[in-house]
Amino acid sequence: MYNARILGAGSYLPEKIVTNADLEELMDTSDEWIRQRTGIHERRFVEPGVGPTDLGLQAARRALQSAGLAPEQIDFIIFATLSPEYGFPGCGCLLQEKLGLDTVGALDVRNQCTGFVYSLAIADQFIRTGTYGHILVVGAEVHSTGLEMNTRGRDVAVIFGDGAGAVVVGRSENGDRRILSSHLHAQGKYARKLYLEAPSSLHYPRMTEKMLREGRYYPYMDGRYVFKHAVDRMQNSVREALAENHLEIEDVGLLILHQANLRISEAVVRSLKIPPERVFSNIQRYGNTTAASIPIALDEAVREGRVQPGDVVVLAAFGSGFTWGASMLRW
Ligand code: ACO
Repeated sequence: MYNARILGAGSYLPEKIVTNADLEELMDTSDEWIRQRTGIHERRFVEPGVGPTDLGLQAARRALQSAGLAPEQIDFIIFATLSPEYGFPGCGCLLQEKLGLDTVGALDVRNQCTGFVYSLAIADQFIRTGTYGHILVVGAEVHSTGLEMNTRGRDVAVIFGDGAGAVVVGRSENGDRRILSSHLHAQGKYARKLYLEAPSSLHYPRMTEKMLREGRYYPYMDGRYVFKHAVDRMQNSVREALAENHLEIEDVGLLILHQANLRISEAVVRSLKIPPERVFSNIQRYGNTTAASIPIALDEAVREGRVQPGDVVVLAAFGSGFTWGASMLRW
């Protein structure tokens, strides 16, 4: 058995900035409401025709550069997204082609906001068993084409943004620097508290005229329900990771929570009693980018020098499914 660690990280955000004031033009909302309830000031949206694999490609190139690797050194791709370009095939295959990797395996992970944490756990297993040497893990989303940009959709539309983050996972030569543990959970009984119903294989055709009229191809979210569960589940995931590794919250160098909503993060931080300077947040600038949020934040934290070799880093997420979980790393 080997140990696995993150060898490099990268991220890519589309250039177009959409402020809360821009959204005021499209729906009955206000900068004040959005900032107070979510902490978000602005988010990024792609230009027409740009998909998650285009964003993922840029993030992947930066992660490869930071790991000092060429694309040909990647043995396997894991792509986490809830906004795939096609119903099938998955984005991993499309990214593989864009990277010029001929027949390397590619897996798509459909675990929404927890997609990156699940993907990292899968990569860890493949590296530890020696199956693969270098795995590219990408989280990328294009939400902007799937949001209802009017007053009916405002509770969801103001929250999400586009972006991509990536890491390269490989063997650790220094056994101390490694992915320490992963903790993965799901609870399908809450599937319809936060979901996208259509197109659906339950219907023929998969998108009916009625579904179109009713806007059932836009996400549905029971916001208050999600809020409460996100706070409980993320803090408990962090506690589970601490207990497994016999560590205390004081031992954590940096906590990166899925950037769902600043108020959710603040509630988790209060409950864990971790000093805010040891928590990374960038939701103010990018909104909620679901599977991309943790790798984008991790990349920024590394580039800002917030993570140093030997630091304990905890990543925790919660999202649709419900799914949730945490990864604990020694950087
Ligand atoms: N602008 C202005 N008013 C709005 C908006 C908006 N964008 N959206 C909703 N409102 C209105 C509502 O219609 C309601 O009006 P009413 O009182 O006249 O009925 C009022 O604001 C309050 O609505 P609530 O839903 O009670 O507001 P709440 O304080 O719960 O905040 C929010 C809503 C921000 C969605 C909150 O529930 C939340 O953050 N939930 C968590 C959702 C989340 O973070 N999801 C991320 C995706 S999942 C994940 O990544 C984990």
